[in-house]
Amino acid sequence: MYSERIRLASLHDKVMSAAEAASLIKDGMTVGMSGFACAGDAKAVPFALVERTGHEPLSISLITGASIGNGLDKLMAEAGLLARRMPFQADPALRKAITEDGHIVPTASVGNSANLALFADQVIVEISLRYGANLEGLHDIYIPPERPERSPIPLVRPDQRIGATAIPIDPAKIAAIVISEYSDSPSNVLPPDGETQAIADHLIGFFANEVEAGRLPRNLGPLQVGVGSIANAVMAGLVDAPFENLSMYSEVLQDSTFELFDAGKLDFASGSSIVLSAARGAQVFGDFERYKERLVLRPQEISNHPEVARRLGIIGINTALEFDLYGNVNSTHVGGTRMMNGIGGSGDFARNAQLAIFVTKSIAKDGAISSVVPMVSHVDHTEHDVDILVTEQGLADLRGLAPRERARAIIDNCVHPEYRAALEDYFARACERGGQTPHVLEEALSWHINQERRGHMLTTA
Ligand code: COA
Repeated sequence: MYSERIRLASLHDKVMSAAEAASLIKDGMTVGMSGFACAGDAKAVPFALVERTGHEPLSISLITGASIGNGLDKLMAEAGLLARRMPFQADPALRKAITEDGHIVPTASVGNSANLALFADQVIVEISLRYGANLEGLHDIYIPPERPERSPIPLVRPDQRIGATAIPIDPAKIAAIVISEYSDSPSNVLPPDGETQAIADHLIGFFANEVEAGRLPRNLGPLQVGVGSIANAVMAGLVDAPFENLSMYSEVLQDSTFELFDAGKLDFASGSSIVLSAARGAQVFGDFERYKERLVLRPQEISNHPEVARRLGIIGINTALEFDLYGNVNSTHVGGTRMMNGIGGSGDFARNAQLAIFVTKSIAKDGAISSVVPMVSHVDHTEHDVDILVTEQGLADLRGLAPRERARAIIDNCVHPEYRAALEDYFARACERGGQTPHVLEEALSWHINQERRGHMLTTA
């Protein structure tokens, strides 16, 4: 059966067990694996690598597109397998199907797989029989020409195809083929709630005004939407908005993309991976023909490319853990030190978007944490890259505002009522000291220190 998935017959004798394929990976190697936000990742071979660590010294440097699923990052880390892990949480193991030319058809993600396979000395292919061969045609593999005279990426619409449907590698590099029955880990996005709906409503009001003022077209322009429950829920809120013929030029396509397709609101979605909850995943991949013509998955170098994001004029909607009075955003480090997930593509989009929007709930951990703080404890997106901030309290449009005006807009619109007086007080005392961007420096991170020491950001609580 699997021979139908390997259309270049000369590769049939490369089929072997995961343990045999994993034995090609030696201690100290750099290994590139497919996988992007838990979609389309290698599974059988990394499990076999973890198995080997029980009885031999084995340590590798691992490069993927983003996170990988099935608990493998944790298992590999705990087994002491990972000397170095890049980029989000490199000999390759790729889970794909193989064409007559020996080229590789990815599954639910492209991520870094094309570049990893092209630059690898040897390639191990994992073919998952859990995914149908009808995924062929979903992908658009465009490899930019070599520098120094690299030509512009010829992509001017989200629905355009500019590359191949498979990763074009020399079949002689395929060292092993492993047949597996694993499927991708489902996402665990939470359902929308009153606060995410309020965030969506603020955004819908803002978009409606922009359309009315002639600054945005009626279909808004290509949307990029970040990962996680909040961004997914906010996007799903567009199902009831008065905008039609939407398009997406994004990185990770979550459940909300398919809700918008089903609601007839979304015409086309371009991404680098599809990451779905268990129920949505079963529905979408069980009825894939319904969506296939309206979808494309690209290498992350193209999905996140500054040139393309800027040319298309995307609207980037990403999630902040916290933002400060002046609009600096922390999306990655809790308390300035503990990594949550990683920056992902949010920086690529925020810097180059037509409109860079960050959303978050105004409080976290039952109100012990304010997501609006005097100074962020880590900066992922500087005030210069942030146009719009939205919490369930309201929306601050920071475009064209000087620092003190930004602070005013943020206090008036975004901070939770329980924290408003404290933030007002901080800002007033900061302004008394003066400066372009006023701060009471010795207090700027006091909310975080309070939280660390007392479990709440305010001493009065
Ligand atoms: N301080 C500490 N913890 C905070 C916090 C803050 N200011 N704000 C939120 N949190 C906690 C939440 O309480 C929650 O904790 P839990 O998992 O223990 O319940 C967790 O962070 C996740 O927050 P949640 O409200 O569920 O939001 P989310 O699922 O939408 O995730 C991010 C939010 C920021 C973690 C996520 O969007 C992310 O990793 N972003 C960075 C990468 C990115 O933007 N990529 C986009 C391109 S693909």
